[in-house]
Amino acid sequence: MERYAEQTQQEFEGWEEFYSKMVDEKLDHFKSEGRLFDIIYAQQFDREFLDYLCNLADMIRGLAKTKMGQEKLRNLLPHKRAMLYFVQPSTRTFLSFQTACYILGLSVSETRGTTTSSEVKGESPEDTIRTFASYVDLIVCRHPQAGFAEKMAWVLNQTERPVPVLNGGSGPDQHPTQALLDIYTLEREFYNVGGLDGKKIAMVGDLRRGRTVRSLSYLMKNYKDVELYFVSPDIFRMKDDIKSFLEKHNIPFHETDDFESIMPTVDAIYMTRIQDEYAESPSGKAETHPEFHFKTKHLAMIQPHCVILHPLPRRYEIEVTVDKDPRAAYWRQERCGMWIRAALIAHIFGVEQEISNEFS
Ligand code: NCD
Repeated sequence: MERYAEQTQQEFEGWEEFYSKMVDEKLDHFKSEGRLFDIIYAQQFDREFLDYLCNLADMIRGLAKTKMGQEKLRNLLPHKRAMLYFVQPSTRTFLSFQTACYILGLSVSETRGTTTSSEVKGESPEDTIRTFASYVDLIVCRHPQAGFAEKMAWVLNQTERPVPVLNGGSGPDQHPTQALLDIYTLEREFYNVGGLDGKKIAMVGDLRRGRTVRSLSYLMKNYKDVELYFVSPDIFRMKDDIKSFLEKHNIPFHETDDFESIMPTVDAIYMTRIQDEYAESPSGKAETHPEFHFKTKHLAMIQPHCVILHPLPRRYEIEVTVDKDPRAAYWRQERCGMWIRAALIAHIFGVEQEISNEFS
C-alpha cells in the first residue's frame, strides 16, 4: 500500500513556498470576497467575528427549541452537500459537524479511513479531496498530519471547484473549530461574571502536542486582560511558537508544574489528554502523570465560578465524580460544538441574515 502511495506522490508546485510563509501573510488566501471561506487556523478569527458567531450560535440554538424553528433551519441549506473526510479517530468533531449539517438541512457523505477509499490504490490525498469537491459544496477534514487541511484548501483554491475546506484537526498543530466552541462555552459560562475578558485560564496536561490548547491560545489575543497558566510536566510544555505569539501580543502567561498552587487563582481550568498517538517511540506502559489530574478533592480548592473544561475524550485526567459538580462544563462544552459549527456553516453559506430575521 505504501509503495503505491510513494509512486503516486507528486509535487505541487508552489506549495512548499506557500506553506513556509508566516500565517499572517496567508490569511487572504483563505478568504473569498472579504469573507472567511476556508477555515484552517485559529488566527483567522478576530473579536468581531467571534462575538458575531457566538451570537449566531445562540440564535440557531434558540430556533432549534421548537419544531417550527427546526423546520426553518432545515430549509436554509437543503441544496448543499458536505463531505466529512475524517481519517483520524473522532467522535465529537465528526458527530457535531454531521449534526450541524443536518440542522441546516445539508446532506452529508463521509470517509472515515484511507483503507476504504481509492487511496488504497495509490490515489493521493490531493486527488481524493479534489474528487470530493466534484460532488459536494463543503469539505471538513481531520488528518494526523500538520498542515493537511491547509494544503487541501490551497490545492482546491487553484481548481475550478474551490469548495470551502474546514479543518477538523490537523495533527498536533491546530483545531480551529474546537477553539471556537471553547470560546463559545467560556463566554456562556462566564455570562454572569463579565464574559471572558479579564479572566485567568489554566491549560493543563499535554500542551506540547495538544492542538486544542494551541488553537485556543491563539484566540486569546482577542480578549482583554486575559492571563494564561500553562500547567504541565516538563516534557509536555507549551511550544515556543505559541509562547512567542503570546509575547508578541502582550498576553501574560506563566508556566508551572504545580497544579494545585494555581487552582484557587484561576477562573477556568482546561484539562487535556496526553496525546500519545504522536509519541516518537511507542513506550510500554504509558505514564499517566497523576499530579496533573483534576480530582474530586480539588473541587474545594477552586473558585465558586471557576469552570472546568476538557475537549474530550477523557481518560483519567478528570475523576468521573467531578462530573456532578455544576462547574464541570465539559458536557455542555461538547454540545456547544454542535451549535457553533452550525453557526460557522451558516456563515460560510451566507444564510445568517435569514436566521437573524427570525429575531427581529
Ligand atoms: C481533541 C482532538 O481531537 O484534538 N478532541 C476533540 O476534537 N474534541 C482532543 C483529544 O483528542 O485529546
